[in-house]
Amino acid sequence: MAQIDIRNVQKFFGHLQVLKDLNLTIKDGEFVVMLGQSGGGKTTALRAIAGLETVSSGQILIDGVEVQDRKAADRDIAFVFQSFSLYPHMTVRENIAFPLRAVRMNAADRDKAVTEVASTLQISQHLDRKPSALSGGDMQRVAIGRALVRRPQALLMDEPLGVLDAKLREQMRAEIKRLHIARGSTSVYVTHDQIEAMSLADRIVILHDGVLQQVGAPDEVYLHPTNLFVATFVGSPVMNVNGVRIEGNSVMLNDASRGFTFPDPVLAGLSGGAGGITMGVRPEAVLLRHEPAEGYVQAVTTNIEPLGSHDIVDAQVDGAVLRARTESGFVTGEGQTLWVRIDPAQAHFFDTATGLTLRGAN
Ligand SMILES: Nc1ncnc2c1ncn2[C@@H]1O[C@H](COP(=O)(O)OP(=O)(O)O)[C@@H](O)[C@H]1O
Ligand SMILES: [Mg+2]
Repeated sequence: MAQIDIRNVQKFFGHLQVLKDLNLTIKDGEFVVMLGQSGGGKTTALRAIAGLETVSSGQILIDGVEVQDRKAADRDIAFVFQSFSLYPHMTVRENIAFPLRAVRMNAADRDKAVTEVASTLQISQHLDRKPSALSGGDMQRVAIGRALVRRPQALLMDEPLGVLDAKLREQMRAEIKRLHIARGSTSVYVTHDQIEAMSLADRIVILHDGVLQQVGAPDEVYLHPTNLFVATFVGSPVMNVNGVRIEGNSVMLNDASRGFTFPDPVLAGLSGGAGGITMGVRPEAVLLRHEPAEGYVQAVTTNIEPLGSHDIVDAQVDGAVLRARTESGFVTGEGQTLWVRIDPAQAHFFDTATGLTLRGAN
């Protein structure tokens, strides 16, 4: 187990800068998930930690020792790839034992280590089979077993569940978490799936265009996004985002003349740049009623998505549409009149031009 420090890391492929001044400390025993869109630099960052990719400048430290110039084999870090990458001609046992043979561990110790890791991953019954006889989930268990068997200092996983179907992905996600808790290994897990990130991570690291956007516990990132990218990338359905005009205690969507009333302190001191202010509100913070009430604005429904446990309702207010999360069956059809309020405690304000979060006086 180990602490990993990434300091001022830059990575260029030719003229293309893929990592832009990356700084991050991954604590001993921590489970960090790197989250972002495709092309954001996640795989490159992970490969750089493992030594499968060089860095253009900056340092990578494992337990305080600089390793950026060391080969992958000398870093004691295990890597699980998205594709299973097992040796097809070897049995599961031989696949898992492979890294131990490479370090010339004796046969008895090797057998003991393989048996133990196979039991942890619940693949003991497959040890004498070839990978081609296994299901996708079991193949990925073998790949994880092969990575863990050496008891590496850190375990890096690059979208390891990406090729599995949704149900198996959910099951494996729970197993990876259980395994992490049991082993306590420092883990870095890459995904573009925000739900996977929220469910697995001690801390989420959001990477976009090679730039680190925010590092924080899942609820911190969800409740206090530092910018519009994070705000709209994390959370499903996506946060409602609208340009707003603020007048006194009132927030007007776009060019509307009617506004949502906010309590005094929320809006105090908010000021956007030349591009104005953008308000972000998650669907659960858009509150609907069937009758008018203080603080509610009249709206009309334009679309309903029944999702079983709840519905997502689109409510049009003047020129804007707010998506609201409601109990199932709260609204029965399109074209229905209802009243909308925004929970002031759950409203986010951003500088439209920079995308950065704005904090009011409170
Ligand atoms: N070996 C390479 N040579 C040139 N460009 C690369 C190479 N590997 C990745 N890239 C580019 O670097 C950027 C980041 O890629 P990657 O780290 O794979 O992102 P992610 O894993 O977040 O999808 C992309 O624009 C990709 O095309
Ligand atoms: Mg990738």
